[in-house]
Amino acid sequence: MEKLVIEGGRPLSGTIQIHGAKNAALPILAASIMASGTHKLSNVPDLLDIQVMLEILRSLGCQAEHYGDTVTVQTSTAYSSHVPEELMGQMRSSIFLMGPLLARFGSVTVYQPGGCAIGERKIDLHLKGLQALGAKIEETGNRIVCTADSLQGAEIVLDFPSVGATENIMMAAVMAEGVTTLYNAAREPEIQDLQNFLNTMGADIIGAGTDTITISGVRSLSPCLYRIIPDRIVAGTVLVAAAVTKGGVTLERVNPAHLTSVIHVLRRAGVQFAIDGDIIQVSCPTRPKAVERIVTSPHPSFPTDLQAQVMVLLSLADGLSVIKETIFEGRFKHVDELSRMGADIRVDLSSAFIRGVPRLYGATVEATDLRAGAALVIAALAAHGTTIVEQIHHIDRGYDRIEEMLSGLGATIKRYTPVPSE
Ligand code: EPU
Repeated sequence: MEKLVIEGGRPLSGTIQIHGAKNAALPILAASIMASGTHKLSNVPDLLDIQVMLEILRSLGCQAEHYGDTVTVQTSTAYSSHVPEELMGQMRSSIFLMGPLLARFGSVTVYQPGGCAIGERKIDLHLKGLQALGAKIEETGNRIVCTADSLQGAEIVLDFPSVGATENIMMAAVMAEGVTTLYNAAREPEIQDLQNFLNTMGADIIGAGTDTITISGVRSLSPCLYRIIPDRIVAGTVLVAAAVTKGGVTLERVNPAHLTSVIHVLRRAGVQFAIDGDIIQVSCPTRPKAVERIVTSPHPSFPTDLQAQVMVLLSLADGLSVIKETIFEGRFKHVDELSRMGADIRVDLSSAFIRGVPRLYGATVEATDLRAGAALVIAALAAHGTTIVEQIHHIDRGYDRIEEMLSGLGATIKRYTPVPSE
C-alpha cells in the first residue's frame, strides 16, 4: 500500500494553480452520454474517481481518453445502459449515470453505489425524483432497474437539498416532455456548472444556484467543448494548509465567490486574505484563534467537505472551538487520528469540541476517507517530526498528486510506493 511520508514544520509559500473540480467533472462526464458525438472537456483533474467514471463510460460502449487536463468522450458508439456492479461499487458518483442513461436509452440498470464511508448515503431522493418524471423502478437486492417509455416534466419538491439528487433529476428532465420544476434544489456551484454544460449541449435550464431549477424539455442535445470550474474544496484545503503552517500562498485560477463561507470562517480564526479576481493570497503569521461555532450545511453555508481540514486549524488555535456536522453522520473519523498526533478533541453526537493545543506531533495515521485524509496531511505539515499517512488511495480520489502540489509550495512530502514483494 502506498503511503505519504511528511516532515512537518515548514511554512508553505509560493504560487499554485488550482485544478478542476472533481464534483463538477463527474456528473458532467456522466451527462455527456446524453448527446451522441464527441465532447471535449478541459480542466478535468487526474483523479481515481475520474478514472473510474471513464472506465464506466467505456464499459457502456463510449471511447474516453484523458490527456493532460483534457478528456475526450466519444459517445455515438454507446450501446449499453447497464453499469457493471464492480464499477458501481468503486464510487458514489456512479449513481450519476442513472438520469443520463434513462434519458438516452429509456432504461438503466445500476447497483447500490460505493464511495467514502462517511454516513448512510441513501439514494431515495434520486429514485423518488425519477419516479416523479414517470420512471418505473424495480429494486432486487443490490440491483436497481429503472425504465420509462417516455419521461414527463413534473413539479418535484426535494425533502432535502441533496446535491446528487438535484443533479440526477436535472439530467433526466433535460429531454423529458414539458417543464420540470425542482424545488428545494441544492445550490452548490457544481450544480451551476452542470446547468451550464447541459445548456451548452442545447438544454433549456434556468435557476441553478438558487433553490428552484426549471428544466424545459428539449428533443435532442449536441456534443460540445466545455471547461470545468476550479475545485473549491482543493482550494479550501490549500488555504488551510497555508494557514496552519503560518505560511503565505497565492492561489491562482480559483473562484473566490465559491469560498465565501470558508473565507468568512478562516477570517474569524485570524487568517488573512487578499482577493483579486481569480487570485487569493492567504497568510497567517500568528497562532489561529478559536472559532466559537461552525455548522456544516448545504451551500452557501460552510461545506462538510472542508470540516476535517478546518478542524486541524482549530486544533492548533488558542481556545475552544465547536464544529457541528449536519450533513454526514460518519464524518468525524479523522478525530481519532488527529488525537494520535496530540490534538485535544471530544466528540459528542454530531458536535466536535476542539481545545487548541500549542503543537501537533508526527505519528503514523490512516486516511479513513478522502477529506479526513487531506486533513491528516495538513496536520502533518504543521506537526513536529515525521508523519506517515497510510491508506492514501482515499486522498487520490480527490487531489491530483497531492505530494507534487504541496512540495511545489515547499513542503517536505514524499509518496512511498512499496515494491511488489513487500
Ligand atoms: N441523502 C439522502 N437521500 C438521498 C440523497 C442524499 O438521505 O437520496 C442524504 C445523504 O445521506 C446525506 C445528505 O443527504 O446525509 C447529503 O447528501 P448529498 O446527496 O447532498 O451528497 P452527495 O451528492 O452524495 C455530494 C458530493 C460530496 C459532498 C456532498 C455534500 C459529489 C460527487 N459528492 O455528495 O462530496 O460532501 O455532496 O456537499 O458531488 C467529497 O468530495 O469528499 C464528497 C463527499
